[in-house]
Amino acid sequence: MHLFDMAGGYGFLEAFAYAKFVAPAVESMGEPMLRRLESSLPEGARVVDIGCGGGNILTALGALRPDLLLRGVDLHGSMVQRTRRLASQRKVRVEAVEGDAMALPFADGEFDAAYSVASIKHWPDARRGLLEASRVLRPGGSLLVVEADRSCTHQEAYNFVGRWRVPRLPGLRGAMLMYFRTYVAGQSLDMADATRLFAGLSLSTFSVEKVALMPAWMAAGQKAVQ
Ligand SMILES: C[S@@+](CC[C@H](N)C(=O)[O-])C[C@H]1O[C@@H](n2cnc3c(N)ncnc32)[C@H](O)[C@@H]1O
Repeated sequence: MHLFDMAGGYGFLEAFAYAKFVAPAVESMGEPMLRRLESSLPEGARVVDIGCGGGNILTALGALRPDLLLRGVDLHGSMVQRTRRLASQRKVRVEAVEGDAMALPFADGEFDAAYSVASIKHWPDARRGLLEASRVLRPGGSLLVVEADRSCTHQEAYNFVGRWRVPRLPGLRGAMLMYFRTYVAGQSLDMADATRLFAGLSLSTFSVEKVALMPAWMAAGQKAVQ
């Protein structure tokens, strides 16, 4: 992947820029999902973060719920290293591995919950990745996805970009806004896409909703119990 094309994993430079400037803002995008996981997961649940990046959300979940067994997987080795470093800084137990959402390195039914934040727009085949996520879930397990909304409003994008940790230089926010709307949200999925994708999985129930005040949606469902 390079900055203007969403396909594939992050290179070293993108991993650095993403972790330093953008990841904390994406963490707030994942906040409602985090709260839902925190309050709904049973004691000792096994959870996987697919496309975990630098581990911001995974380690935030670990800090809230130290009882959980947390795994992270990312296509890019330097992201996996970042997750391990952040986990050690935040003193959270996390196991991060390199792997592709298209062929997850986990057994069938291994997890009670699988989630992904801001990653599926990068996957070459979102449906295949979601089928993989369902495969590694036990029957009744939870699947959650948060992603940038291609149909977001100008104001949502403006607010989000305002959270990026970049210097306050004249014109920079406008350039970032154009970048986000064109290349990030612009190449992402909207709520109708998410609804179609989730409807094609073997879930007993699912919902797709806006993340309040953010240029993002959240989809959540439960794997059917046969
Ligand atoms: C925008 S970052 C989001 C990172 C993290 N989820 C977060 O919320 O900060 C997208 C991540 O997805 C990863 N990624 C892209 N394609 C992937 C794939 N096919 N399998 C696994 N990870 C992938 C990238 O390497 C990158 O770390």
